[in-house]
Amino acid sequence: MTDEMTATIPLSGKLTHLADLTARYADPDFSVTHGGHVRTIAAGHYTVTGLSRHLRLGEFVAHRSKTGIHLGEVVRVEPDVAYVCPIEPGEPIGVHDTVIRKGAFRIAPDDSWCGRTINSLGEPIDGKGPLAPGNIRRAISNTAPPSMARQRVETGFKTGVRAIDLFSPLCLGQRLGIFAGSGVGKSTLLSMLARADAFDKVVIALVGERGREVREFIEDTLGANMAKAVAVVATSDESPMLRKMAPLSAITIAEHFRDQGDNVLFIVDSVTRFAHAIREVAMAAGEPPIARGYPASVFTELPRLLERAGPGEEGAGTITAIISILVDGDNHNDPIADSTRGILDGHIVLDRSLAEEGRYPPINPLASISRLARKAWTPEQEKLVSRLKTLMHRFEETRDLRLIGGYRTGSDPDLDMAIKQVPVIYEVLKQLPSEPLSNDAFADLANGLKAAAGANQMAPRAPMGR
Ligand SMILES: Nc1ncnc2c1ncn2[C@@H]1O[C@H](COP(=O)(O)OP(=O)(O)OP(=O)(O)O)[C@@H](O)[C@H]1O
Ligand SMILES: [Mg+2]
Repeated sequence: MTDEMTATIPLSGKLTHLADLTARYADPDFSVTHGGHVRTIAAGHYTVTGLSRHLRLGEFVAHRSKTGIHLGEVVRVEPDVAYVCPIEPGEPIGVHDTVIRKGAFRIAPDDSWCGRTINSLGEPIDGKGPLAPGNIRRAISNTAPPSMARQRVETGFKTGVRAIDLFSPLCLGQRLGIFAGSGVGKSTLLSMLARADAFDKVVIALVGERGREVREFIEDTLGANMAKAVAVVATSDESPMLRKMAPLSAITIAEHFRDQGDNVLFIVDSVTRFAHAIREVAMAAGEPPIARGYPASVFTELPRLLERAGPGEEGAGTITAIISILVDGDNHNDPIADSTRGILDGHIVLDRSLAEEGRYPPINPLASISRLARKAWTPEQEKLVSRLKTLMHRFEETRDLRLIGGYRTGSDPDLDMAIKQVPVIYEVLKQLPSEPLSNDAFADLANGLKAAAGANQMAPRAPMGR
């Protein structure tokens, strides 16, 4: 008799413990048909015999131990054993414990989840009581709608952050990355963007954050907007499986809102920590690293997640994704930054040097790009921005020359104009998270330039050129 046959448990007969197993994870889409047993146990995974023929990669199994019932994800399947990563760290697994196939992990999002904070499993963690499940159970490993059935992305919206609305304006359904080293201001900028008025719903995945920051983000920065927001949280001390699942559960909730016609803002802070979690899970399953320690599955999971954002099919709403990417040691070409930049429809680059100068948000407008900006600008605005960028570029490239006194005012009218206007533009771009969002960044810029021109006329003429 083969190992598989002995371990396959029929539905009839002595099944009291299998009934227990399904009770906690009651799932109408799933009925217990197959069971197996734990064979070996290692630090990040355990192996199961008897289920290989029935399991698919990415499916879940439920495991019964002496202390209760736990879930794990299938990360590798071999002819006689399957590798499973448990989602709860430190669960007491014993050899020969019973394991059953559960299928895809599903959650049932509902409109009443707005204003709530949940974990990656869709369970409430805010102490506000149980969550009512919605009518449709959705697999968190869902795929994106077919590309030809999707609507086009062409409606611009205002984020209220002047540096973005002027230089890299966004459209509903766009996917944007915020790239920066550690502590430069990614989370703060995301919290400003989460307050944008353009959205019906906001779904936030906080992955690998410090526990302290989570409450700050939800209570202080979201404030009144929390009424239309759902936060999915997996802090840095949680298992790699839970950290890996947080953005998947969050986008599943965003898809629920999108399918009923809402324009949803989907935020992930940070995608790098999501990639780290995938790396930890894959390494535990023995997947070899291919780029800077990252296994190949990281580079298939990232586009799978990000493709699910974007516009929905006809009649549905949109999911606008804004994600943060931590660039290791300020190296913007590390593998995660590189691969996400290729998938996204735009990137905002934050510069440590701007943060050090106190120019917050430290967005570098010359290095940032929105690939859909043309659909958000009017033709006049596009022309104006192109002119402003030329002035800013001239100002920056001659900075050292001017500092050593190598430029005489009057020799280059374009540079004279840049010297006069660029510091004013930089001043207009400064924005603290406590300030109200801007209603019209172009009007703010025009007012700033007008006020500076007025002040210049009043002031005695000073030597220029520095
Ligand atoms: N717009 C802003 N206005 C004023 N201060 C800011 C602004 N953005 C960031 N800061 C300052 O920079 C610090 C770090 O910001 P933040 O936590 O957003 O960075 P981060 O890139 O998310 O960091 P980490 O990589 O650790 O997650 C904040 O504590 C704050 O002092
Ligand atoms: Mg942060």
